[in-house]
Amino acid sequence: VSNLKNENAPIGVFDSGIGGLTVLKTLLQSFPNENFIYVGDTARLPYGNKSPQTIRRYTEETLEFLKQKGIKCAVIACNSASSQFSEANFKEIPVFNVIAPGAQAAQAQTKNKKIGVLGTRATVTSEAYSKALLSLSPDLNIYSVACPLFVPLAEEGLDEDPITNLIAFRYLNGLKNLNIDTCILGCTHYPILKKAISKVLGDEVQLIESGEALAQSIELAMNSGSIPKNQSKESRSIELFATDHNSSFDSMAARILGAHFAAATSAGCSY
Ligand code: DGL
Repeated sequence: VSNLKNENAPIGVFDSGIGGLTVLKTLLQSFPNENFIYVGDTARLPYGNKSPQTIRRYTEETLEFLKQKGIKCAVIACNSASSQFSEANFKEIPVFNVIAPGAQAAQAQTKNKKIGVLGTRATVTSEAYSKALLSLSPDLNIYSVACPLFVPLAEEGLDEDPITNLIAFRYLNGLKNLNIDTCILGCTHYPILKKAISKVLGDEVQLIESGEALAQSIELAMNSGSIPKNQSKESRSIELFATDHNSSFDSMAARILGAHFAAATSAGCSY
């Protein structure tokens, strides 16, 4: 099923739920000619509270599904999955994760070398960001906070709700006094809650989303020829799969993707 040389083959993107759609949106804007397949593993969400072994198994199964769909590369648009999965174990297709680009963007952004990392329990416990950041610059001060209740709030679309502000305060008030100037949104659901997060941390703290930095890594891979660029001028296809497809997935997808949602095919349950 190798489609690695086929420029028309889609780019596969996946997350445990709707969070990865924040990454997909950036990729849709950055690569207007590329076809995309998205999988939200909503039947098994959340990943972030599960054990490393389970997260790894889910990730491998979803990558296998995308491989069968004939993708030319895969994007793990989920920090919890990225933090537990080693690309070295999946040699068939180029796989991009969100941790390295997010760490690079934060390191480039910080002036006072104090960086916050927000993530799920799995991502924070794995220390994937701390390791990636310290390998870039050993003199950074890194403060990580697990925010497990953020994912269900984002999935429920409660981003403008007072309960979200309250929970953000509970998780982030301690960070506020540590004088960070940069904070990594180390879960792809968190950009949905950006307003509530900034309300506590203050507008002067730069929030880092992995989407843009990730798009640059893919662009580099395309320019170097390791992934073929789609040169076709035909209108592209965007297929959305969810392992438990329901109307709330569609309504959040419509909110996040905006006009792109109208162009997408909602392809129902993947498996
Ligand atoms: N959006 C995911 C992440 O980036 C995971 C959320 C979850 O399933 O816990 O970590």
